[in-house]
Amino acid sequence: MSAMKAVRIHNYGDAAVLSYEDAPQPTAAAGELLIQVMATTANPFDYAARAGYLAGWYAFTFPVTLGLDVSGIVAAVGEGVTEFAPGDAVFARADPAKNGAYAEYIALPASEVAHKPASLDHLQAAALPHVGFTAWSALMEAGGLTAGQAVLIHGAAGGVGSLAVQLAKWRGAVVIGTASAHNLDFLRELGVDKAIDYNATPFETVVQDVDLVLDTVGGDTQARSWGVLKPGGMLVSVVQPPSAETAAAHNIRQAFVTAVPPAGEALRILAALVESGDLRPVVSSVLPLADVQQAHALGEGRHVRGKIVLKVSA
Ligand SMILES: NC(=O)c1ccc[n+]([C@@H]2O[C@H](COP(=O)([O-])OP(=O)(O)OC[C@H]3O[C@@H](n4cnc5c(N)ncnc54)[C@H](OP(=O)(O)O)[C@@H]3O)[C@@H](O)[C@H]2O)c1
Repeated sequence: MSAMKAVRIHNYGDAAVLSYEDAPQPTAAAGELLIQVMATTANPFDYAARAGYLAGWYAFTFPVTLGLDVSGIVAAVGEGVTEFAPGDAVFARADPAKNGAYAEYIALPASEVAHKPASLDHLQAAALPHVGFTAWSALMEAGGLTAGQAVLIHGAAGGVGSLAVQLAKWRGAVVIGTASAHNLDFLRELGVDKAIDYNATPFETVVQDVDLVLDTVGGDTQARSWGVLKPGGMLVSVVQPPSAETAAAHNIRQAFVTAVPPAGEALRILAALVESGDLRPVVSSVLPLADVQQAHALGEGRHVRGKIVLKVSA
């Protein structure tokens, strides 16, 4: 079995447990693609998995390779694969329960892979899958957002939020976003109709009667969101399950979205929106994969704009 470079953890802990080292290179089984990874990203999921916070949900066997986002080149196709050929540029969201994309190669089911939008390079395309799938699932599938509705997006400058704003505008919604002061112009560039500095203005004093709240922050931000929704509205969180009792008391629907299910179909939709000019991933910085410890430490500060991308082979 050939070796490749990968970032693995051998135990849970802080960013120092991320080890850039040799690992066995996977092969493409039937129905799979072997992808040479050009770029991946740092996601809050990776920080949580690394720290052991997800141990109750995912039975990882050490050593574990982290990394959900993939942009790369098909290196080989497994038996039965007809829609892809070696050399194709692709992007994908790796299965959170399996070894991930902090590696030079990853094998994934072809059904979970989409052709990379030609207008994005690999560094940009890697910034799309996990957060794009999450934003799509939360707004469109769970939230049922329709044209003309008003949506409040918390954390609008972040990985999920920056794509959610663009998707909601594409859908024809009126979009209100929260961020800190230095990101307000950025939110306006993304297309928000109203940008709120959450440090200066409690959002509940200036927002009312929205149809949908997308919560990417949780805690007190989620708790204060019930009052800004109109009766019959909906609170969708990607951070923590909203209380069903509180929702019922406010005559509001609620949902907790986990971007765990297969993402392939959503990625094809997102790729089409990129190609039509309606969606653009946001890359705040690019670091080599070997600097993954720095990327995690930066991301865990929770004030990244868009995504931190990790350059693997690009
Ligand atoms: N359920 C799922 O499947 C799923 C999938 C993806 C993500 N998530 C979760 O969703 C959350 C967001 O993910 P992400 O990738 O978007 O994270 P992220 O990119 O790390 O979020 C950073 C952003 O959060 C903003 N922010 C921090 N505190 C805020 C506050 N009090 N109010 C408004 N904005 C605030 C920051 O804006 P400023 O710098 O302007 O403050 C920054 O732009 C994470 O907890 C993640 O674990 C869940």
